[in-house]
Amino acid sequence: MSDKQIKNLLVTGGCGFIGSNFIRYLLEESSFSGRIINVDKLTYAGNPESLSDIMAMHGSRCSFEKLDICDLPGLERVFSDYSVDGVAHFAAESHVDRSIASPGVFIDTNIRGTFNLLECARKAGDQFKLFHHVSTDEVYGTLGKSGYFTEATPYSPNSPYAASKAASDHLVRACHKTYGLPVTISNCSNNYGPFQFPEKLIPLMVLNAMEGKPLPVYGDGSNVRDWLYVRDHCIGIWTIMERGTPGRTYNIGGGCEMENLAIVGKICDIIDNAGKKAPGVSSSRDLITFVKDRPGHDFRYAIDCSRINQELGWRPQESLETGLEKSVLWYFDNMEWVRRIRTGDYLNWIETHYG
Ligand code: NAD
Ligand code: DAU
Repeated sequence: MSDKQIKNLLVTGGCGFIGSNFIRYLLEESSFSGRIINVDKLTYAGNPESLSDIMAMHGSRCSFEKLDICDLPGLERVFSDYSVDGVAHFAAESHVDRSIASPGVFIDTNIRGTFNLLECARKAGDQFKLFHHVSTDEVYGTLGKSGYFTEATPYSPNSPYAASKAASDHLVRACHKTYGLPVTISNCSNNYGPFQFPEKLIPLMVLNAMEGKPLPVYGDGSNVRDWLYVRDHCIGIWTIMERGTPGRTYNIGGGCEMENLAIVGKICDIIDNAGKKAPGVSSSRDLITFVKDRPGHDFRYAIDCSRINQELGWRPQESLETGLEKSVLWYFDNMEWVRRIRTGDYLNWIETHYG
């Protein structure tokens, strides 16, 4: 699938963490030469300010539509107005803890929203080129101390978030099998990097440490995640969109497994070495606090990336050391973005700009 074939690419969730990094990558670094239509509901996790510099530079190639993907007539209008011929689908409720507390919106957005997009893509007819669905390794459930998730690992989701993503993956696959819709799916491990909402482990720990607040580690901190720098994920997605085989799933991972306690320790060391520890704290590691475990907490994720590596030549460029350092420094340099997304100031800004 060549980028030259997609002229009008609908990116959903383009104001979120990975979606905004993807739009940035497409417009600043990739071979993509078409136009982007960014559809985002602007939930608590979506912030158009994450793209303000990109819009200033490339606004003629990127339109924004504030829209809920659960709004089918709204989506039908966007598909028709912009002659959408490709989709990169990021929009989702993405945080596991929130899905445990309030699963309903995960069902609406992640399942119904994905279904609506598939319906629009299907109705777009022969001119429609590709639906790329961005998914998670959490659909596979949990690993023990050994082994890896491959594309053949049976689905076994454990949280409402993971179950909703699994359902959306099945709908995407079924649309390919039943209707011949050209689709690709990627199942990726934990991302980190610039513009990540500070509810996720890495930015939460960075900010809490800088402010001298407790660093809440669930359980005994021995759970393992496979960390991938967000730009590497974006390159992987675009590689699949350009050269992947329709109907195929590709796992994406960082090859950087680490126990939660160890990664929190590394963050503390970066902060202390940069002279950013909170006043009165002798070592940020002293702030680590073990708290009640997450219900249904998956023990370990680890990805076998052989398929995307061997078939498409993708491998991550960033190591955990370089990526983590860059990410922590990004938060030091972007405290105004942090302040605004945390206080909800940006919601007022959205109100005045987008109604
Ligand atoms: P995020 O929470 O940072 O961003 C989600 C975006 O979707 C936000 O801009 C939000 O406003 C938008 N959105 C939410 N509901 C919407 C709706 N109903 N209609 C339109 N827009 C809506 O999420 P993220 O971390 O950037 O994740 C993006 C995608 O990547 C998700 O599909 C997630 O499942 C997947 N994924 C994430 C990771 C990770 O580590 N963060 C790893 C693998 C896969
Ligand atoms: O694996 C991909 C998934 O990674 C994505 O699909 C999800 O959208 C994304 O949120 C992420 O899910 P996790 O649950 O793994 O990420 P989170 O940052 O919430 O937690 C990472 C690990 O750290 C996990 O084992 C739980 C633990 N944790 C998390 C938080 C927020 C803590 O110990 N303390 C915390 O405060």
